Amino acid sequence: MRIGILGAGGMAAALGGAWTVAGHDVVIGGRNQGRAEQTARRIGAAGHGSLVNAAGHGDVILVAVPAAEAPQLVGSLAGSLAGRTVIDCTNSLVPTSDGPMLNTGGTTPVARQLAGAAPDAHVVKAFNLCHVSIWTLRPPTFEGVPLAVPYCADHAEAAAATETLISSIGCTPAPCGGLERAAYLEATAALAIGLWWAGQQPRTAFPLPAEAPPR
Ligand SMILES: NC(=O)c1ccc[n+]([C@@H]2O[C@H](COP(=O)([O-])OP(=O)(O)OC[C@H]3O[C@@H](n4cnc5c(N)ncnc54)[C@H](OP(=O)(O)O)[C@@H]3O)[C@@H](O)[C@H]2O)c1
Repeated sequence: MRIGILGAGGMAAALGGAWTVAGHDVVIGGRNQGRAEQTARRIGAAGHGSLVNAAGHGDVILVAVPAAEAPQLVGSLAGSLAGRTVIDCTNSLVPTSDGPMLNTGGTTPVARQLAGAAPDAHVVKAFNLCHVSIWTLRPPTFEGVPLAVPYCADHAEAAAATETLISSIGCTPAPCGGLERAAYLEATAALAIGLWWAGQQPRTAFPLPAEAPPR
């Protein structure tokens, strides 16, 4: 799959590196060409270029910039992003003495803001729950179980592309409904990071009965 990445930092390198190892054609797009080139070379990506280059390269575009910058950036690239799958891995968090809080005030999730900024793009929320280091594991497996990657998507083709990307790095896709539910993924990140900062292991907080859930 052709993947363009907006951003050349930690998440671009970790997810871009995992997808490159999985055989995908990854282009790192940065506002700073030196950093984009350095990141692309480090992970063995197919190439690097400007943000516009990356937006035009991918069947799938990963938005890996700060959440506060993402809506304006995506809006400026809306023409190139039309018809493409745009994966939003951002977390809009502000640290407080009570733990990390959603900078969106819990109102309009970042993913919905991106969908509004680029109405013809197919926005998906995914890959925001785990720390950057988790995406460098080959594969990310815990107690012998592959990492589940929750995602929210409205568009069937975008959901399928996201599932392909998740499966190709040895993880299990976990569909969580439409983009309306992206707010829950963003809030879950705030809760999980707060637990982690408080010295807890968030995944131990979610044990459920072994039997199948009621339907
Ligand atoms: N780190 C984590 O553990 C983690 C986990 C899950 C989700 N996330 C989310 O993933 C996103 C990226 O995080 P990261 O850790 O990769 O951050 P990072 O290492 O700081 O990289 C951010 C990248 O965004 C670029 N950037 C910043 N403002 C920009 C703008 N206005 N226009 C274009 N590019 C811009 C930076 O450009 P320069 O290279 O020029 O500085 C940099 O390449 C964030 O939204 C974060 O919340 C992070």
